[in-house]
Amino acid sequence: MPADRVSPEVRVYPDAAALSVAAAAEVARLAADAVARRGRFTLALSGGSTPRRLYELLAERVGVPWESTHLFWGDERCVPPDHPLSNYAMARAALIARVPIPAAQVHRIHAEADPPEAGAAAYAALLRHQNARAGTDGPLAFDLVLLGMGADGHTASLFPGDAALDERERWAVAVTAPPFYDPRRRITLTLPVLNAARAAFFLIAGADKRPVVRAVLDVPATAEGRYPAAMVRPAGPLVWFLDEAARGAPDR
Ligand code: 6PG
Repeated sequence: MPADRVSPEVRVYPDAAALSVAAAAEVARLAADAVARRGRFTLALSGGSTPRRLYELLAERVGVPWESTHLFWGDERCVPPDHPLSNYAMARAALIARVPIPAAQVHRIHAEADPPEAGAAAYAALLRHQNARAGTDGPLAFDLVLLGMGADGHTASLFPGDAALDERERWAVAVTAPPFYDPRRRITLTLPVLNAARAAFFLIAGADKRPVVRAVLDVPATAEGRYPAAMVRPAGPLVWFLDEAARGAPDR
């Protein structure tokens, strides 16, 4: 990973609720800044359960420029968009259905495609189209990518040891998660896209994440070769929003 990439800024909060309140304020600040500078805010949402409260708080927040916001996803499970395990379905219930964002600005991953590889190719094409509209030709530089982390150090649907971690050309790929994940088939953005972001926020809560959080933050050199979450080093600010359970007490 280029050495010039910024080190994570770590912010620790008493619990997931406080983490979500702080992250909501930061997302709103970045949104206003992006719209002021570039006329739109491009936000890639995370899946999983941790960001749900953040999405609810954003839906309740006054002044977020939804009319100028474009939503994308960092990954999606290969299920229909109304499935209980769909990342889109979670965001739709917590946020999208509650804010005045134009439907044409909600760019979900059509992961129900058969085969999933077709869905990945279609999403990559959508990202290229969005990029053309922005008048640039490198990977789509999201203003902000929201990410979570599994207890194994995966992020989006980039799992430890997966060949997708070595992908440098395609912007989205279909993957098969390890056996104990359901569903196993997913579509994920790849590291070139995640690392082209102007900013990235990790939202991580719970003691089950602590061992990997400590490895990534306290021994980054070895973690970068092992945990996908450690490989996310965006061009701009990288902030890890943690609760105390995930960070753990500092070594005495
Ligand atoms: C997904 C997410 C995934 C998630 C982590 C953490 O589709 O599941 O993209 O990367 O962020 O698994 O999930 P929790 O927030 O539920 O712990």
